[in-house]
Amino acid sequence: RSQQSLRGEKIVVTAGGTLEPIDPVRFIGNRSSGKMGIAIAQAAAEAGADVTLIYGHVTCDLPDNRKIKLIHASQAEQMASSVKEAFRKSNCLIMAAAVADWQSAKVADHKLKKQLGQTELNLKLVRTPDILATTAADKRSDQLVIGFAAETNDLLKNAQVKLQKKGADYIIANDVSKDVFGSDQDQVTVISRQGQDRWPRLSKSEIAQKIIALVARELEKRHD
Ligand code: C5P
Repeated sequence: RSQQSLRGEKIVVTAGGTLEPIDPVRFIGNRSSGKMGIAIAQAAAEAGADVTLIYGHVTCDLPDNRKIKLIHASQAEQMASSVKEAFRKSNCLIMAAAVADWQSAKVADHKLKKQLGQTELNLKLVRTPDILATTAADKRSDQLVIGFAAETNDLLKNAQVKLQKKGADYIIANDVSKDVFGSDQDQVTVISRQGQDRWPRLSKSEIAQKIIALVARELEKRHD
């Protein structure tokens, strides 16, 4: 079963960062490269799954694989509706995207100009939808939801809180104070209600394969 452990399964993966517009030429973004999410989508497709990859801003190549359906969603709100739609028909969601927590309260329809002598600009930001939390809250018992936690301090404590607060089945915690963004490697700890499992530093593709092996075991349990 190892080769095609996800045959017949439908998996939704998100990757990259969202860009929240301020005006027609500016946005609030983040340093996500998309590498982890894309590696997960690829590993899932290699394991035989039908994958929907919903991606924001990425700095690496998108996969070219007939088992991976690509959907672009540049902002959190678009990503939320794409995930909602795709997850309904799927068994598993893996939220590897770096979704902005905040978006501009009002997006200007023209380029904001600085005035002569102006030294400050106040931008009002409002929360974006929490895609992981809302999806996990509505999930069926046959569906698996996995989130990521990127933290710079108190990693494991914050990730435990995130597991509870978001209602995810697993949180993959990684310390982004180290060299993670754009890197081909990462060191993660997998957090679930059963406990914590610290994996060694591995390539993102090895991490992706281990996450997919975990998904295959969990989905198998749910089908029993
Ligand atoms: O709350 P925080 O951003 O730290 O949580 C990270 C996890 O939540 C990631 O899996 C990310 O994809 C997801 N997330 C989300 N919607 C947001 C913010 C984060 O789904 N608005």
